[in-house]
Amino acid sequence: MRAPLIVIEGLDRTGKTTQTLRLLSHLNNEGIKNHLIKFPERTTPIGELINQYLTNKRLELSDQSAHLLFSANRWEFQSEIVDLLIKNQTVVVLDRYVYSGVAYSSAKGLDFQWCLSPDIGMPKPDAVIFLQSRDSTATAKREGFGKERYEIESFQNKVRAQFEKFEKDSNWHNIYVDGKSIEQVEREIWEVAEQYITGVQDKLDRFQRK
Ligand code: TMP
Repeated sequence: MRAPLIVIEGLDRTGKTTQTLRLLSHLNNEGIKNHLIKFPERTTPIGELINQYLTNKRLELSDQSAHLLFSANRWEFQSEIVDLLIKNQTVVVLDRYVYSGVAYSSAKGLDFQWCLSPDIGMPKPDAVIFLQSRDSTATAKREGFGKERYEIESFQNKVRAQFEKFEKDSNWHNIYVDGKSIEQVEREIWEVAEQYITGVQDKLDRFQRK
């Protein structure tokens, strides 16, 4: 038996971080042990480099190098995630994960399968909750949009198209956020998350070569 691994994904400024924090308070209120990791995790040496790349537009990296850094940043936490799930029986909530890695890099033109390959072997989540927004103009109007490298409306549309390639995965759940209150989205996320939290998780799957 192990605890579930739940991922919240979405385009930039779709309310992902707000909703992740609400999910954590819900788990706390229910007395369920939980741990949040937000990727990129910017505090490690690799994370600091990623932060410079995202915020200081003068740090240039090839698309492939940037992609591999994001993946390396996840690998830094691989054993911690596995231990939390198996040894500590702690629900792990990830704010972005492999799916962002693949969607953002393939939106730049890199091959989709190539983008997935450095993450092969990372734990596969039980549920991916994707905050879906079709209204990129509304997203672009959110506070802070445009501060980081990828916060450009036309690019976000390309990223959305790449994320949608995961929709057929059995662990994928779209939650539409347009026109909904924070509380409404929070309820819908809980309805999905709850099924995994109360269900029994057995073996831990890994990302695999197709
Ligand atoms: P954040 O705004 O959620 O901190 O994410 C930072 C940016 O990094 C966001 O535009 C998505 C992008 N990103 C990637 O390009 N590849 C990745 O693997 C991850 C986790 C994020």
